[in-house]
Amino acid sequence: MKTAIIYSSKHGTTRKVAEEIANLFSTDEVTLIKAGQPEEPDLGSYDKIIIGGSIHAGTISKALRKFLKSNRNLLLQKQLGLFLCCMFEEEAEEQMHRAFPEDIRSHAKTCHWVGGEFLFEEMNFIEKTMTRKITGVTESVSKLKHDKINQLVQELS
Ligand SMILES: Cc1cc2nc3c(=O)[nH]c(=O)nc-3n(C[C@H](O)[C@H](O)[C@H](O)COP(=O)(O)O)c2cc1C
Repeated sequence: MKTAIIYSSKHGTTRKVAEEIANLFSTDEVTLIKAGQPEEPDLGSYDKIIIGGSIHAGTISKALRKFLKSNRNLLLQKQLGLFLCCMFEEEAEEQMHRAFPEDIRSHAKTCHWVGGEFLFEEMNFIEKTMTRKITGVTESVSKLKHDKINQLVQELS
């Protein structure tokens, strides 16, 4: 089975989750693809496609939005998994709904919020100031949900 994981990551957390997922697929041939690269990947040959994004100021990246839009028809024909990294638990479901269009969510075999991280060493000055002000968090913290990551892999295996 060939699996592609398409991700978009600002500070590295979504990439880290994508790598964890890739390592959990022991039998599949897995390729990690960063959304928004100048060369569009040819996804036709993959059996399963997993898409991961993160929320910054309420939305996923422009690159991932563009990817979802331009590959919609192909995605609706594949075994599909979705995951989202973000930190505000009470907003996770709504953000998931906004991140992935309804038809893509309904078609997906699995769809999980997998937590997130605040990585101060990766943030610029404005991001650090905003994060401290809005959340009161002042140092890096990881709240990844490894049980959900495992579940996603099981549901697609
Ligand atoms: C400037 C900034 C804005 C953020 N905005 C949100 C938000 O609106 N909602 C949320 O749930 N998490 C928010 N987060 C948390 C991110 O989703 C979290 O840090 C995630 O792990 C980032 O993943 P990435 O490094 O792969 O982009 C924000 C983080 C930063 C630094």
